[in-house]
Amino acid sequence: MKISASLLSARDNLETITKELNNLDIDYIHLDIMDGLFVPNTSYTDEEINIIMNITNKKLDVHLMVNDIDKYVNYYLKDNVESITFHYEAMNDINIINKIKNNGIKCGISIKPNTNVEEIYHLLPLIDKVLVMSVEPGKGGQKFIPNSLDKISKLRKKIDSLNLNVLISVDGGINNNSATQCIENGVDILVIGSALTNSENKELFINQVRV
Ligand code: DX5
Ligand code: ZN
Repeated sequence: MKISASLLSARDNLETITKELNNLDIDYIHLDIMDGLFVPNTSYTDEEINIIMNITNKKLDVHLMVNDIDKYVNYYLKDNVESITFHYEAMNDINIINKIKNNGIKCGISIKPNTNVEEIYHLLPLIDKVLVMSVEPGKGGQKFIPNSLDKISKLRKKIDSLNLNVLISVDGGINNNSATQCIENGVDILVIGSALTNSENKELFINQVRV
């Protein structure tokens, strides 16, 4: 099980918290990119993205909540990027998957809470990861939507039955409690934002999630 840390709720303390995460047992920094169109909010400024990229010693797990996927993909075809995930609801050209993969970067597809998992089954053989949104995309600190567990479980069964090497990730409202439930249902990567960045003892929090 891997952990990807989102800094979206830590923008007031970006440098300090990015440095703090360097010493923790987490696998990736989850970089939330919003265009103000696919979701109402915008996220980091260019300056904030540079701070994260220059300070972190983790690889980046880029989550594009944008309409113009191709334009934003171009910015993140970089060495320290592990994966680029875009939204199924915004996809208009399937060739974007190969564009990402041909650059040696893993490709993920994300689905919003109201999108059924079955809609992306045909894409599973082409991608490396599915990101199940367990809150409405757009901001940190929201409450976990319970039917996400069912989606994780269905995906686990489908991926295993097809014998594919596709990872399942979940994003939104992950705390100790929802983390345990997601793990029980077969998740591979937990994206954790506010529960981690607001935690007084981040090392302890991570250890508890990993138990
Ligand atoms: C929400 C973002 C998430 C968010 C998670 O749109 O995609 O990555 O930062 O934050 P928490 O864990 O606080 O829900
Ligand atoms: Zn995210």
